[in-house]
Amino acid sequence: MNPAEQKRAAAERAVGLVEGGMRLGLGTGSTASLFVEALGRRVASGLAVVAVPTSEATRAQAEALGIPLATLDEQPELDLTVDGADEIDPELNLIKGGGGALLREKLVAAASRKLVVIADATKRVDRLGRFPLPIEIVPFGLETTRRRVAAALDRLAPGGTLALRLGPSGTPFLTDGGHYILDARLSAIPSPAETGRALKAILGVVEHGLFIDLATRALIGAQDGVMDIARRTSPLSGERAS
Ligand code: A5P
Repeated sequence: MNPAEQKRAAAERAVGLVEGGMRLGLGTGSTASLFVEALGRRVASGLAVVAVPTSEATRAQAEALGIPLATLDEQPELDLTVDGADEIDPELNLIKGGGGALLREKLVAAASRKLVVIADATKRVDRLGRFPLPIEIVPFGLETTRRRVAAALDRLAPGGTLALRLGPSGTPFLTDGGHYILDARLSAIPSPAETGRALKAILGVVEHGLFIDLATRALIGAQDGVMDIARRTSPLSGERAS
């Protein structure tokens, strides 16, 4: 299978995990949209679920397909979220946010008993960091926040660059929450958990795209099928493991 077929196969496999009555989180991006498409078909044939979308784009797609929607305030505890990823390491830690939806994606993932990641094989890496790490920041005080972020990354993942993400018209890209994104091109992140904690502690940073200990399972398309990888349970994260 080519990457496009792998994404579809992973999405189709994930939709098989959905049971009637479930409260779902719907991810964002090209792979997650294939899951939403497949879920829409099941809903059209009578499956009863309620879903919380992680972006306005996903909300619009799900609404058009007739998938019953709720806000995270209406459904603060979810059974299953299915989402894509930009990178997946062997521990199922992720980089997400290439599409700019990382904040809502993380809020929805953290509210879910299970986070199943769907992807094609190109997303598997031995070590996170080749994909630019998105860091969502408040627009006010951009330059001071950028300097603090650069200083933290110089210490934890030296040798990278930091760029303000721009939209198609050349103006700063705005997230659904009205924030900016800094993309950190790092090549490798030696300590993802420590880097995540350091970024999160910076004034002006809203969230970052490192998803540590959140994914419980990954369905990854390959040449000849879908790899099904469960996260190894650690004593600290056992309650979320599938
Ligand atoms: C959206 O903000 C991202 O986290 C996506 O889930 C991620 O970029 C994967 O997108 P694709 O499925 O389009 O590669």
